[in-house]
Amino acid sequence: MHLTSEEERALSGEQGRGRQKAMELLTALGDIFGAERLISIGSAQVSGASFKTIGEAGIRWLEEMSSDARTSVPAMVNPLGLDVRRWRSMGVGEEFHTRQMRIVKAYGAMGLEPVYSCTPYLAGRRPRRGQHVAWAESSATVFANSVVGARTNREGGPSALAAAIVGKTPEYGLHLEENRQPKVAIELRSVDSEMTPLAGFLAGRIAGNRIPMITGRRLSADEHKAFGAAMAATGAVSMYVPDPDGKRDRRQEQEIEERVTLGPDDVIRCSEDLRGADDWDLVAVGCPHCSSRELRSMASRLRRRRPSGDQDVWFCTSRRAFALCPDAIKVLRRFGKVLCDTCMVVSPIEELYGATATNSGKAMVYLPTLGHQRTSFLTTSELLEAISRK
Ligand code: F3S
Repeated sequence: MHLTSEEERALSGEQGRGRQKAMELLTALGDIFGAERLISIGSAQVSGASFKTIGEAGIRWLEEMSSDARTSVPAMVNPLGLDVRRWRSMGVGEEFHTRQMRIVKAYGAMGLEPVYSCTPYLAGRRPRRGQHVAWAESSATVFANSVVGARTNREGGPSALAAAIVGKTPEYGLHLEENRQPKVAIELRSVDSEMTPLAGFLAGRIAGNRIPMITGRRLSADEHKAFGAAMAATGAVSMYVPDPDGKRDRRQEQEIEERVTLGPDDVIRCSEDLRGADDWDLVAVGCPHCSSRELRSMASRLRRRRPSGDQDVWFCTSRRAFALCPDAIKVLRRFGKVLCDTCMVVSPIEELYGATATNSGKAMVYLPTLGHQRTSFLTTSELLEAISRK
């Protein structure tokens, strides 16, 4: 990989050990993937922020990096294992909290913004169309590539942090136009809005590691958020090409090697398959983090109802969305906990609950493994019905 003289100096350690380590990581990645150079990025988003996912070894690595490494572009962090302000009410223990706060401190010392969310594009950090970024969270990556039109690979936590420090990333994969062409066309035919997480769940399985073109339906921003997150969880792909009006250009058309239609029967069958036993002790909404629009919509549907009290409820969101709708938060708090900075997957949920119902296609993939939960998929309407009474 060709390096500029400044990059060579960083690699030699002239600009500090932290920056040197970051350069070593980026150049190794670049060599593995055949990148010719490093390119500047507009922002970074770093995963590996919960003590549950990175453990003591991860903390020590971050603390070592934080002794002299500093970010050189705006950089945000993925959700933590707890709500920084309401961790006690979540039921998280003192020891977990102490370790989690060492992670927060290390990221803070390196200059990362205290935005602990998987929806940085809703938290004031939306990239420009065509801009290169280095984001790690899979659901954010797929949104950035597919909806915003920015360019990012699905970074690992360490490579996103290295990119944040250097302000650059190796130019390979989805940074290059030739690797952003769809290979499979998936038509969403009459798929109901509440079923878009399941459409994404199925689309990821169909796509595998191919970029799909999504036709037949124009998705709202919140539908994209749920669809892309589920697709990235069941498939090994960080991008799709929305084409609701069939305006694909001839080049893209020629590259399509398979066409598949997903209709109401497919998503209903999937929802039946993912409907577990009705014995959940937690209802968890907000994977990816709820937008302020979603919080308001749920609150308006619950406003005249009272809590069923049959199970605990978590509404997971970003601190920014939380701040945007105080009235909605007041309503939702009658029914459960509104949590920021964290989520049902990266928190120590397994120490608190055994079975979770969710409206998230992505959480249906990770809750059984990372969270050791028995899971049930229910639509948002079904969940709101279950947690409330007239
Ligand atoms: Fe976000 Fe946690 Fe889901 S990080 S996408 S809410 S698994």
